[in-house]
Amino acid sequence: MTSPVRLALLGCGTVGSDVVRLLHEQSADLAARIGAPLEIAGIAVRRVGRDRGDLPVDPALFTTDPLGLVKRDDVDVVVEVVGGIEPARTWLVEALRAGKSVVTANKALLAEDGATLHDAAAEGGADLYYEASVAGAIPLLRPLRESLHGDRINRVTGIVNGTTNFILSAMDATGAGFAEALEEATELGYAEADPTADVEGFDAAAKAAILASLAFHTRVTAADVHREGITEVTAADVASAKAMGCTIKLLCIAARGADAAGRETVSVRVHPAMIPLTHPLAGVGDAFNAVFVEAEAAGQLMFYGRGAGGAPTASAVLGDVVAVARNRLAGVHAASESAYADLPVRPMGEALTRYHISLDVADRPGVLEAVAGVFARHEVSIATVRQGPAGGADAELVIVTHVAPDAALAATVRELRGLDIVRSVTSVLRVEGGA
Ligand SMILES: NC(=O)c1ccc[n+]([C@@H]2O[C@H](COP(=O)([O-])OP(=O)(O)OC[C@H]3O[C@@H](n4cnc5c(N)ncnc54)[C@H](OP(=O)(O)O)[C@@H]3O)[C@@H](O)[C@H]2O)c1
Repeated sequence: MTSPVRLALLGCGTVGSDVVRLLHEQSADLAARIGAPLEIAGIAVRRVGRDRGDLPVDPALFTTDPLGLVKRDDVDVVVEVVGGIEPARTWLVEALRAGKSVVTANKALLAEDGATLHDAAAEGGADLYYEASVAGAIPLLRPLRESLHGDRINRVTGIVNGTTNFILSAMDATGAGFAEALEEATELGYAEADPTADVEGFDAAAKAAILASLAFHTRVTAADVHREGITEVTAADVASAKAMGCTIKLLCIAARGADAAGRETVSVRVHPAMIPLTHPLAGVGDAFNAVFVEAEAAGQLMFYGRGAGGAPTASAVLGDVVAVARNRLAGVHAASESAYADLPVRPMGEALTRYHISLDVADRPGVLEAVAGVFARHEVSIATVRQGPAGGADAELVIVTHVAPDAALAATVRELRGLDIVRSVTSVLRVEGGA
């Protein structure tokens, strides 16, 4: 058989240890698929002495010098499962410039500065694969960058964060508030001790940037993504959604559009939204992920599965390892980054959305007219108005709008809050998916 393809594994935590396990358990199959055996040249970690259980690997392979490992002449492919921006960027740029292909699960780095990695890959003639960075085990990036390359993608809507999906699903199922559902998620191991990256939408925003870049052939970074988390979603919001035949999900949405001059643009955003129960994403419960892709010729496609966890993520990493190892043996490289379209990213205020607004108003004649006047002033057209049960001198109004620029909708809500006849604006949620 051909000489082995030698891997430098950077990181041996939740994902890295399962990469080691799968490499061991499937070594014969992987070798047959690649045409050469895979061998671990070294494993860089922070603490060599850490107890790693019964990991099937020679302890002598561990090192605390990732850069030294990357630079070794006997390393062909670098697998990075450490995370963070630095020093990971330095290691990967070093590898790529030296012509060593890289497989990484590092969504934060790709979303913040993917351009530097892609440029280094082009410079070194190396492959850069990162399937595991978005939606764990779900094959999604390769379909976007290969299978759908003959098509035109118009919109990508995803549930790409398992922690928040678990929390929102629990709120929907039990009527619990956010804090109670977060506590349950933490107890069950679905939320980290510091859940900020998940519940504030940072993790989903990084994934949104990666998905938008691939879908629209445009460099999109995390800073381009409008981000809102789920900490403000209340039990009352969830109940309102239910009353409308909807559920609330934290969505990442990347969509084509056009600016006032008719120039093509993209908008990329992460925020909670109501979706109708008939939408394919509505049934994605617990910590599962799913991404709904709308393409010109292919139509609607849905990708569903486990978006995190050691073994599912390691599966995606190994799929990439097989691809880059085969390319290496064949002396070829995957197509480089496709960013030719270079579309401008539209500010959130210009994104077209719909709002669901619940108001407590004074229950007296002329109120509806005054409220409708505010919408008209901001050129927001109302789709439905429902009057809830009166409570003493107050009444509840539930208004769903047609599509309008987000800035106009936000300005409408601001003005409503200032009206004497509006006692309070009890819930404001965006509506997606045609409810
Ligand atoms: N966990 C998931 O479900 C999941 C899913 C998708 C993507 N990812 C991504 O995969 C990557 C790894 O995640 P993880 O959950 O496996 O993380 P983790 O469990 O915290 O493991 C991190 C590993 O990196 C090592 N490490 C940390 N800093 C280092 C440094 N400066 N030099 C050398 N080694 C260092 C740690 O060494 P020690 O072992 O000595 O501590 C550990 O082995 C991240 O980019 C993450 O976003 C994770």
